[in-house]
Amino acid sequence: MSLSPARAARVLAAVALVALSAACVNLRPLSPASASTLYARLGGYDALAAVTDDFLSRALPDPRVAPFFKGLEPRDLQRVRQHLVDQLCNVTGGPCLYPGKDMKTAHEQLEITTDVWNAFTGHLNETMTHFRVPEREHNELVAIIGSLKPSIVNH
Ligand code: HEM
Repeated sequence: MSLSPARAARVLAAVALVALSAACVNLRPLSPASASTLYARLGGYDALAAVTDDFLSRALPDPRVAPFFKGLEPRDLQRVRQHLVDQLCNVTGGPCLYPGKDMKTAHEQLEITTDVWNAFTGHLNETMTHFRVPEREHNELVAIIGSLKPSIVNH
């Protein structure tokens, strides 16, 4: 089958148009705002560090929580605080590695009950209210933390 020059030009134009549209599809932004990580939407590393510090300042003096941390030296508390920041950064899609123990290993000797869990996470809710974290981000963080519960609560 042979094509007339005019028809060949039309076919070429059509192929070029299809190729161009495909190229245009690839020109969409790689990270539209709706797809940005929870980490980014919460404000990044410094915001998560501030959330962690506010949370610990509420949770640690709570008489339902304090006994669990009683034996820890200041440097151990510092490690737990830094590991919490790293972990929050990591699980929300940020650029951090979490170098600490897995949640089961870190908590298995502690005999944490659901009541203690509720007290602890209740303070996290207070922190998010304090920082006016929007509902969408609040719910996403609650879901992520909630998914850790079976590894932490063992009584
Ligand atoms: C809300 C979910 C929780 C998360 C995300 C969490 C996270 C962590 C992390 C990252 C560490 C540090 C592990 C390491 O340094 O290797 C840790 C240690 C610890 N957590 Fe939790 N935790 C949670 C709930 C709780 C609860 C409810 C309690 C009890 C009130 C608790 C008590 C402790 C204690 C005492 C340590 C220190 C263990 C040690 O170093 O000997 N955690 N936790």
